[in-house]
Amino acid sequence: MRVYEINDHIKKYSFGEVFQTDTVVIKGKEIKEQPLEFLKKTLNNQFLYILDDEDIVYGLGENVRGINKRGWIYESFCTDEFSHLPNKKSLYGAHNFLIVYGKETFGIFLDYPGRAIFDVDYSKRNELKITTEDDNLDIYIIKGKNLNNIVQNFRNLIGESYVPPKWAFGYQQCRWSYKNEEEVEEVLDNFKANNIPIDCIYLDIDYMEDFKDFTVNKKNFPNFKSFIEKMKKKGVRLIPIIDAGVKIEEGYDVYEEGIKNKYFCVDENNNPFVAAVWPGVVHFPDFLNKDARLWFGKKYKYLIDQGIEGFWNDMNEPAIFYSKKGLEKAFKKIEEAKGKNLGIYDFFDIKDTFPRLANSMEDYRSFYHNVDGTLVRHDKVHNLYGYNMTRAASEGFDYIDDNKRFLLFSRASMIGMHRYGGIWTGDNTSSFEHLELNMKMMPSLNMCGFMYIGADTAGFGDNTTDDLAIRWSQFSIFTPLFRNHSALGTRRQEPYAFDGKATEIIKNSIEIRYALIPYIYSEFMKATINNDMYFKPMTFEYNDSFVNRIEDQLIVGDSIMIAPIYKQNAKGRYIYLPEEMLLWKAKKYHSEEFEIINKGHSYIDVAIDEIPIFIRKDKILVLEKPAENIDSMKNNEINIVAFLDKESEYKLYDDDGKSKDYKKGKYNEINIKVINKNNDIEVKIDVKGNTSINKINVTAITLDGKRILKEVILN
Ligand code: GLC
Repeated sequence: MRVYEINDHIKKYSFGEVFQTDTVVIKGKEIKEQPLEFLKKTLNNQFLYILDDEDIVYGLGENVRGINKRGWIYESFCTDEFSHLPNKKSLYGAHNFLIVYGKETFGIFLDYPGRAIFDVDYSKRNELKITTEDDNLDIYIIKGKNLNNIVQNFRNLIGESYVPPKWAFGYQQCRWSYKNEEEVEEVLDNFKANNIPIDCIYLDIDYMEDFKDFTVNKKNFPNFKSFIEKMKKKGVRLIPIIDAGVKIEEGYDVYEEGIKNKYFCVDENNNPFVAAVWPGVVHFPDFLNKDARLWFGKKYKYLIDQGIEGFWNDMNEPAIFYSKKGLEKAFKKIEEAKGKNLGIYDFFDIKDTFPRLANSMEDYRSFYHNVDGTLVRHDKVHNLYGYNMTRAASEGFDYIDDNKRFLLFSRASMIGMHRYGGIWTGDNTSSFEHLELNMKMMPSLNMCGFMYIGADTAGFGDNTTDDLAIRWSQFSIFTPLFRNHSALGTRRQEPYAFDGKATEIIKNSIEIRYALIPYIYSEFMKATINNDMYFKPMTFEYNDSFVNRIEDQLIVGDSIMIAPIYKQNAKGRYIYLPEEMLLWKAKKYHSEEFEIINKGHSYIDVAIDEIPIFIRKDKILVLEKPAENIDSMKNNEINIVAFLDKESEYKLYDDDGKSKDYKKGKYNEINIKVINKNNDIEVKIDVKGNTSINKINVTAITLDGKRILKEVILN
């Protein structure tokens, strides 16, 4: 074991021959060997920590179950897992960061690209056991003053998170099946006819020619470039999907170039590995090979040149429907079984032969990457695949325009990828359980560095219901990525697809999202720049014995707490407040029904058209009049609501929304202070940089329920 001091808070313990994942951005210096802190290395590839009964374990990013991960066994192995049931162990992401909070409080990060198992108090009471496939790994122990600080220290270690353009905070509509120009335009026209704001419409695999990356189906999209332009003029950007597998087809440039330059993953005979995904048989680009990565990244230019400004990378676990070898074996097995008198277990085995072909470990063990001239078996570095596909895209964008922010998010991911793109949480289903899961995943993902995140609102698989679409939209108005997406063949779930009342409620929710943009964008950017979290469990801000138990109320940004409704037919819910808060039951962006809720346990009524938003004490919520899309928001007059005890303060961040200049400190900040002066308020404004805001309408509600209004003109 080698020990490194990264800084005052972090030590790295290095075992064996470590594969460089490029996840960590601070190297540190080697120091004298010393025992691993907190953890005990038991077997060769196993680390153990004994939890106290009251300890909470946070982290593991995109995963099933609760915010507190105790009581289950999780596997870090990016998996194309469309049923996110509690019996699953892994989803699309591999996020090896945990925080133990309690008797001892510290973070653990496992820098390891293969399969890792986190047994958190599952196999044996109070044991937290981490197991890897081999003994080549780096383990980091991260300390800090408190939970927030541990996250900051960790995020500092892994580098600054990806930031999309500001328009990517608008509402986005997707569905697997918008197949041609007419259909896409019809979707937009429906939004316009119903006056529902929207910023993006997605193109799923149907826009391609035979599901081939970097092609456009000429029959269905005959004038792609001018269509993109026309749609942009009508106010939306089109976001195409890119899949990992490259179709095997003579004459297809991506295939031909990949073959010629040996850019594809190979099998044990050094031939390009053959698997099947949407296009039928494909090869997988070797994103771990630098040249191949750069080549693939530059391919995005074909679509960018036609006016595209954002992409979603999919099927990059990589998902495998079957491999050539696997399929041959399956047929052989069926052939051999023919005519036999099968016992029932043999029959079950035969029956499952085909479903078992998908994403099989045997396949992941049978192809290789070329890493600087050395062949590395895929399963050993599996979690790096989606990460490096998204890195390829991001590096490609930098090659085209290194100061422009593109929209980019991925399905598969590993920590490290958070610097290159966001993620959506993959193929959930239209169920209230998955809305709940969505809510619980968000803070865990923020801990792991993923900031631009969201789930398929209203659910991807299965048929949604109007109340689910409403309640899910009411939650998603807070997620940085707010996209409604559904699978081919399911019930339509665009906001206008429901009856008038449901459409109206979803429209109001989307308008509230746009009204919240100054706050959401400001909080997202500050959190990203400061390595902070945008979504936090309550324990990150409050400390009392009951707060520790809460899993279904989240702090969003610095000023508000949300208590989403995630049960069907619920007309309200229980909440716990560690201090008094100002409840805004938002029905419309300009509705102003505020109510002070006392500290402690309460039940609040929440009608189907209401979104409960709690403004914290001495904090400020910022709103603006919504518009049909982000680019049309005026950004000159804002409304603020302060819940005032002594003094409420807010730093409103804004920038050009397009460039990476914020990294050089080029952004505006308006510091707003509302001071309680008995029966009056004093408002102090301090502007750093240039702001287009010229008027602030202040509503202050004092602890004793007084409402004081003021207009402040900025010159
Ligand atoms: C995968 C994606 C889903 C997409 C579908 C078709 O299942 O996760 O979002 O719609 O493929 O491309």
